[in-house]
Formats: sequence, C-alpha cells, structure tokens
Amino acid sequence: MFTDDLLAGEAILVTGGGSGLGKSMAHRFAQLGARVAICGRRAEVLEEAAREITEDTGGEVLPLPCDVRDFAAVEAMAAAVADRFGTLTGLVNNAAGNFLAQTEKLSANGFRSVVEIVLFGSFHATLACGRLMIERGVRGKVLSIVTTYAWTGSAFVVPSACGKAGVLAMTRSLAVEWGRYGIRCNAIAPGPIPTEGAFSRLMPPGVEEMARRKIPLRRFGERRELADLAAYLMSDGSGFVNGEVVTLDGGEWLNGGEFNYFTTLPDEQVDSAFAALRERSGRKR
Ligand code: HXC
Ligand code: NAP
Repeated sequence: MFTDDLLAGEAILVTGGGSGLGKSMAHRFAQLGARVAICGRRAEVLEEAAREITEDTGGEVLPLPCDVRDFAAVEAMAAAVADRFGTLTGLVNNAAGNFLAQTEKLSANGFRSVVEIVLFGSFHATLACGRLMIERGVRGKVLSIVTTYAWTGSAFVVPSACGKAGVLAMTRSLAVEWGRYGIRCNAIAPGPIPTEGAFSRLMPPGVEEMARRKIPLRRFGERRELADLAAYLMSDGSGFVNGEVVTLDGGEWLNGGEFNYFTTLPDEQVDSAFAALRERSGRKR
C-alpha cells in the first residue's frame, strides 16, 4: 500500500505504544522507516515490544516508561525523544484507560482516573511535544486515537466518552491555532478492534457475536487497517488534512452507537456482565 520509505526521517512518539493498537502503529511506522519512541507505565512491556519491533523491522525503537498523567515526566520524555533522534516530528496520543460501569455506581475517583489518562494525558503529551516542535520549527503531526462516541456519547463509558470528546475538541482547536506553525492535528475514531486491553475490559463474555452483528460489515476491525490509516495521516501525503477525525468502524456508529445496547438488557444481566469483567481484571467491586 505504501513505499517502504514513506516515513523515513520521521521521529514519532506513540503513547501507550507497548501494547495493542499503539504497538501495531509503532511497528508499522518503524517498518515504513520512522524512528519510534513508545511509552507506557510498564517498563517490561515496553522493552519487550521495542525488542520485537526492532527484530522484525530493523528500525530504531526507544522504550520510555512514563505515566502520561504526570506533566513533568511527559516533558522529560519528549525532550529525551528529541535528544535521542535529533528531532521530534510526530506524536500519537494513544494511551487510554477505560472500563464498563453503570454511572450511578461509579466513584468520583473512577471518573478521574480515566479522564486523567485520556484527556489530561493527551493534553500533556500534545503540549510538551507541540512546544518542542514550535521551538525547533518542526512542521509536526499530532494524531489522537479517539472513538466514535466522542461525538455520540455512549452509555456505560461516561468517563471515557468525556475524555475522548475533550481530545477531539483539543484536536480541532489546535488544528486552527497551530496551523500557522505547520503542525497538523488529526484524529482517528476506530470501532472495535480486538486487543487484550480493550476486549478484557469492554467485551463481557457472550456478547461478542452481538457486537459483531451490530457492525454493518459484520466484522471487527484489524490492527493493520488502523496502522495504515495512521501511517497515512503521519506522512506528508496527507499534508492538507488538518482538524479531521477519520472514522474507521465498518459503519458501526451510524447503526446505533457503541455500548448503548446494554440498555436493552435486564439490569441483573448488565450487573453480572460487568461483574464478570471486573473479576477478570482481579477487581472485587
Ligand atoms: C468500576 C472501577 C473499575 C471498574 C477501576 N475502577 N475499574 N470502577 N468498575 N471496572 C475504579 C477504582 O475502583 C478506583 O476508584 C478508580 O477506578 C481507579 O482505579 P485504579 O485501579 O487505582 O486506577 P489505575 O491503576 O490508575 O488504573 C486505571 C484504569 C485501568 C483505567 C482503572 O483499567 C487501566 O490501567 N487501564 C489502562 C488500559 C485500558 O484501560 N485499556 C483499554 C482502552 S480501550 P476508587 O473510588 O475505588 O478509588 C478503549 C476503547 C474505547 O478505550 C472504544 C471501544 C470501541
Ligand atoms: P491497550 O492495549 O490497553 O492500550 C492502552 C495503552 O495505554 C497501554 O499500552 C497502556 O500501557 C497505556 N496507558 C494506560 N494508562 C497510561 C498512563 N497513565 N500513562 C502511560 N500509558 C498509559 O488498549 P488498545 O485497545 O490498544 O487501545 C489503544 C487506543 O485505542 C486507546 O486510545 C483506545 O481508547 C483506542 N480505541 C481502541 C479500540 C479497540 O477496540 N481496541 C476502539 C476504539 C478506540 P500501561 O498499562 O503499561 O501504562
């Protein structure tokens, strides 16, 4: 689909790049010639991912443990990437937290925890990387991974919906504000793409088939489909795309939204489905 050197000369930071979709994007960027840095909270996960990507692509991958909720740590990380690669040309805001919960049962700390990762984390990384790009005259790219309920909202994921809506608002705002620096800000809104992180938290046992049937194309997305779209948006080929959110969901959101279907089930069934997910993640309540 692309020439092998599509991203040669790029130095891209992918938050949450040690697992799932972030890892797939980092892998694809490295395959297309970019130098890549990946961050997350778990050092061993990052190191393993970096090793795997380097072995497979021959590309340079820098693992940097960092909690995106901590602005000072994010600033230091952005500086470390620019130091190592001599530049920083791209950021992918991919790190996120999420779980299914009835909102009336959610604690204030549960809400804060997700919004701090998704919205504050994306803002921290965007601010730190954007400042570096502006200072150094780099015509950079900021790509944020949101989801379709950033604009529709969705039952049972209120913290994530609020966080993603904020990230989309940031994307459109900065597309205008930072356009004069040549920095392009875009987003991708994927529908369900199987990953351990997302499906273990959001796909209760027994509902997978129903979730698949809700998608007009009758299948989940594939990681490679997201990675290729991200590569395009991080490349000069998309040089006039700015402030856009590209939906990649097989038509799902037009067919009724994300987790709203749980409202059609009896309360007891919803309770036990969400409890099964909490148990799977080792949580008692
Ligand atoms: C209710 C919950 C809960 C659950 C956590 N909490 N899980 N409440 N139901 N299932 C509450 C806790 O009780 C606590 O509140 C507060 O949230 C913080 O919990 P901690 O475990 O201390 O937080 P932390 O260690 O910071 O972990 C953050 C996390 C966790 C979000 C809770 O799941 C995480 O680390 N996630 C990272 C990866 C991830 O979520 N990936 C999926 C992204 S998929 P109290 O009041 O008890 O202190 C995605 C897809 C979107 O976003 C679209 C799909 C189509
Ligand atoms: P995932 O593997 O759980 O990815 C989340 C990543 O974020 C992990 O690598 C995690 O690493 C990192 N992270 C979480 N909190 C962090 C923090 N405080 N600081 C730094 N890193 C942190 O799940 P995924 O499915 O690949 O999700 C990736 C992105 O795609 C998310 O933005 C998600 O909302 C979006 N998305 C996914 C789907 C889907 O169906 N998979 C659909 C729509 C949108 P650590 O735990 O090591 O920190």
